[in-house]
Amino acid sequence: MALDKPYIDIPGTRIFDADMARIGFHLNQFCMSLMKAENRERFRAGERAYMDEWAMSEAQKHAVLDRDYNRMIALGGNIYFLSKIFSSDHISYQSAVATMTGMTQEEYAQMMLEGGRSPEGWLFNPEKTVKPETPQTAGAKITAGVTTSHIPAIGAAIDLGKTEEPYWQPLFAGYEYSKQWIAEQKPDVVLLLYNDHASAFSLDLVPTFAIGSGEVYKPADEGWGPRPVPDVIGHPKLAAHIAQSVIIDGFDLTIVNTMDVDHGLTVPLSLMFGQPEAWPCRIIPFPVNVVLYPPPSGRRCYALGKALRKAVESFDEDLNVQIWGTGGMSHQLQGPRAGLINKAFDNDFIDQLLADPEGLSHKPHVDYVRESGSEGIELVMWLIMRGALNDKVTLKHRFYHVPASNTAVGHLILENS
Ligand code: DHB
Ligand code: FE
Repeated sequence: MALDKPYIDIPGTRIFDADMARIGFHLNQFCMSLMKAENRERFRAGERAYMDEWAMSEAQKHAVLDRDYNRMIALGGNIYFLSKIFSSDHISYQSAVATMTGMTQEEYAQMMLEGGRSPEGWLFNPEKTVKPETPQTAGAKITAGVTTSHIPAIGAAIDLGKTEEPYWQPLFAGYEYSKQWIAEQKPDVVLLLYNDHASAFSLDLVPTFAIGSGEVYKPADEGWGPRPVPDVIGHPKLAAHIAQSVIIDGFDLTIVNTMDVDHGLTVPLSLMFGQPEAWPCRIIPFPVNVVLYPPPSGRRCYALGKALRKAVESFDEDLNVQIWGTGGMSHQLQGPRAGLINKAFDNDFIDQLLADPEGLSHKPHVDYVRESGSEGIELVMWLIMRGALNDKVTLKHRFYHVPASNTAVGHLILENS
C-alpha cells in the first residue's frame, strides 16, 4: 500500500513532496549555490561547465539550459529554489511564472490585472481522477528491535584494538551473541534512533525529531578525528516515505539531507557489525533531541514508534527493516553527581519496557533525570523503538554491564514474534 497522495490530480499543479525533493535534490542544491555572487558569475561564464560540478541528471541540466521551468518542476525542482535561477537572470517572479502557462508575458500580466486566473476549469474534478495502481508486493516489515548504549570510549576501544583488555573484555562478551544474530538476520535497512551530541547540530538549529534522507553520511570529527569506520549509506527513498507518512500522522520531523553522524550512531553499528569494510546494510539516521531540555516526552516517543511502524509497513518494497534505540542507561556526565549508576532503576526500566511499555511511556522526564542521571534521559529513545514493535515481543538477548567510562551499558534484542 503506497502513501495516499490526494494532491496528484489537481489540474496544472505539482506538489513538492518528499519524493519530489529526493528526485530534485541536486537540482535544488545547485539553485541554492546561486545565492553567492561569485557562483552566479561562474554560472554565467559557462552554464554547462558550472552545472557539471553538481550531481544533476542530464535531463535536469538541459531543462535549466532551456530555462524550461515546467520541466525543472517535473524533475523535482521547487519554485523557491528555481527562483535563484531566474533571479540570477534578473527576471521577476511574474515573468518567470508566466513562461509555464503557455501565455505570453503580456497576456499573463493582463490576466493578473483583470483579477487573476479564474478557478473555472482549474479546480480538482473527482470525475477526472485516475487512481494509480498499487503494486501487490509483500512490502517492508519491521522484524526486530535492538537497544544499546553508545558510549564514545567503546568506539575508541574497538578502533584501537583494546577489546580483549580486562576492562573491556566483559563488555564486548555481551555482544558476541548479537553479532551472530545479526549475521543471520541480514537486515536490509536499520532505522537508527540516536541523539546527536553537539556534532551535526549546534545551537543554531535544534530539531526535536529529525530524519536523515540523504544518500551518504560521514563519521563526525568530534575532536579526535573522525572514527575510522565506513561511511553510512542511507536509504533516501524509504526515508522520504517515512517522513511523509509520520508528518501526516502528526509528527513534524525535520528533514536532514546533509549531516555527519557521531558516536551516537557509529558506536552501535560497530558493536553489532564489528569492523567490516562497508556496513552490511543501509541506515536511516533518526536524531532525537535529548540535549536541550525538554526532550520529547515518553508518551510522544512511544506514539512516534507506532507511527514509524505504520510508515515502514506501508512501503511497497520487500525490505527487512530493524529499528534500533540507542543511548542510556544510567549516566550523568556533569557536576558533583557525575558517575551516578542506579542499577535498580535500569533493570526496572528494562523489565517494564518488555512487559508494559505503554505504562512505562507515562514516566515523566524528571523521573529519568532524578533516578538515572542527567544524561539518563537518553533512554526515552528506547521507547520509540519499543513502540514500533508488537505488544508482545520475543526477548532474544539481554545484557547489562557497569562500567563503560561513566556509564552503565544496557543492550536488548527483541524480535517481533
Ligand atoms: C559517555 C556516554 C555517552 O552516552 C556519551 O554520549 C558520551 C560519553 C561516557 O560515559 O563517557
Ligand atoms: Fe550519549
